[in-house]
Amino acid sequence: MDGPNDSVVSEFVLIGLSNSWEMHLFLFWFFSLFYMGIILGNLFIVFTVIIDSHLYTPMYFLLANLSLLDLGLSSTTVPKMISDLFTDCNIISFPKCMIQIFFIHVMGGVEMVLLIAMAYDRYTAICKPLHYLTIMSPKTCVSFVVAAWIVGITHAVSQFVFVINLPFCGPNEVDSFYCDFPRVMKLACVDTYKLEFVIIANSGFISMATFFSLIISYIFILVTVWKRSSGDLSKAFVTLSAHITVVILFFMPCMFLYVWPFPTSSLDKYLFIVDFAITPVLNPAIYTLRNKDMRVAMRRLGKRIVHPTHI
Ligand SMILES: *[C@@H]1O[C@H](CO)[C@@H](O)[C@H](O)[C@H]1NC(C)=O
Repeated sequence: MDGPNDSVVSEFVLIGLSNSWEMHLFLFWFFSLFYMGIILGNLFIVFTVIIDSHLYTPMYFLLANLSLLDLGLSSTTVPKMISDLFTDCNIISFPKCMIQIFFIHVMGGVEMVLLIAMAYDRYTAICKPLHYLTIMSPKTCVSFVVAAWIVGITHAVSQFVFVINLPFCGPNEVDSFYCDFPRVMKLACVDTYKLEFVIIANSGFISMATFFSLIISYIFILVTVWKRSSGDLSKAFVTLSAHITVVILFFMPCMFLYVWPFPTSSLDKYLFIVDFAITPVLNPAIYTLRNKDMRVAMRRLGKRIVHPTHI
């Protein structure tokens, strides 16, 4: 995947990282700790769901898929940032930059559809409990996962075809920690006005539509729980508000970057730390610590590890 002939830029400089020495050190430890948390937390969920047959339900299959996705999403940027901070090198080759953009959008797209699938799963379980098993059959579940990957790849490819042929001839300094559309596009030596529109229509639309569907389904669930309130309203409310918080945290940077057409502030490059480092660690925390089945499964797993013969 080489740049087009008239492009003379063969690498980009990520100047987002050229901060003070203290900032470097802080970010290095911050990203290292969070990335370790992301790997351990998410692999732990996948491992628990695969091993424990009590968790063979749609919700946990989707959760394991989401965990893998969170791991994938943060792996598109965080390891490179950590090694850049460590080696004090902030150069990324043109093909690697394009590959990074591509995978960010594949993973982002898949993650959004999985979040919708999980909200739909909870909606069915809480609002239509009698039909839960027929609606969320294994077939539905697999269809959701397949659809998520189709949407993710289609979304990434459909934006990528516009960018891959852009000529880059001038400055090559990207004011960010990683490569992504709005900032990299700004460096192309053609007028990218129409392209910005394509990005807003595609990335912006997919994030807005997902965000509002999620918020609406959570409101539906909350109202249903509220109507039936029989004492455990506060527990459901706490759990749901944790989900809503993560959804808002995850989508705010996306909407800020892709829908807001003037990424002039340097705020958005920090905002995206939320998506690559913070929500991938919050998801496993919320789904495991606040979830009784998951806690029981963890205890069972712990017992198995301590007394392997008592299975
Ligand atoms: C992802 O979801 C599919 C469909 O339900 C399931 O078969 C698969 O096991 C899940 N993946 C993981 C890692 O659990």
